[in-house]
Amino acid sequence: MTVTGQARVAGVIGWPIGHSRSPQLHGYWLDRYGIDGAYVPLPVAPERLEQAIRALPALGLAGVNVTVPHKEAVLPLMDEVEPLARRIGAVNTVVVGDDAGLWGRNTDAFGFMAALRAGAPTFDPATGPAVVLGAGGAARAVVAALIEAGAPVVRLVNRTVAKAERIAADLGGPVEPIDWERRGDALGDAALLVNATSLGMKGRPALEFDLDALPLEAVVNDIVYTPLETDLLAAARARGNPAVDGLGMLLHQARPAFEAFFGRDPEVTTALRDHVLAGD
Ligand code: ATR
Repeated sequence: MTVTGQARVAGVIGWPIGHSRSPQLHGYWLDRYGIDGAYVPLPVAPERLEQAIRALPALGLAGVNVTVPHKEAVLPLMDEVEPLARRIGAVNTVVVGDDAGLWGRNTDAFGFMAALRAGAPTFDPATGPAVVLGAGGAARAVVAALIEAGAPVVRLVNRTVAKAERIAADLGGPVEPIDWERRGDALGDAALLVNATSLGMKGRPALEFDLDALPLEAVVNDIVYTPLETDLLAAARARGNPAVDGLGMLLHQARPAFEAFFGRDPEVTTALRDHVLAGD
């Protein structure tokens, strides 16, 4: 990679930032397309977030991605926030405009839907109920995407049901909060099951979930990607359900940001998946 004095520069802001895969991901595309640009990790402590965000135009950066723990806190610092990001309540991409204004976007909903379409090309979310487990930031983006894609109902199952109720109120649309203990009852006629909790992730407790009541043609998607083949996906595949892993959402959510920063909609390929997985 050659970076000249004309290079466009972008990065990712988080705290800590060492585990972010975004530099590797954007770096792959910059190389692949021979773009004169750089994408760097930017460790920003919470108490310096505002200072760092306000400095982006002065530094001439094209923009930044935003990750844990800053996605909600950056929203009020934007000059303009796209309606979807406002509904989700979080910004994961800040684009610096030609006028030096800061535009806040959320590409997680796009990433979720693009990954689902790539992993299950014949599936149409409008054909039946979706069951989503979890009510954290990731679940908000998943639910927003499913409402937009025309899901007739999104059954939102969470341990803290009040958080599911808040999402239903914030996002509007056909969202039905369901208590975690009643999760098995939600499956009967489901067309899609998504795990948007952190359960099943390396180092976190297992997701205990009985798939018996799930129709065999329902698509099962786990947004956890460490491990890539979670117990949920293995159980789904074993009984014949189409299964979509969580890496796709990570890769596809980066596309709109890359395009905004570097001017090209990049491709998600098997080679890119292998490159990101090799970085483990
Ligand atoms: P993110 O923003 O990345 O989605 P998060 O806000 O920490 O992460 O959300 C994690 C999700 O996993 C939440 O829905 C959480 O349930 P609560 O809202 O009740 O906290 C869920 N979760 C975590 N541990 C859980 C457990 N042991 N049993 C059930 N749900 C759990």
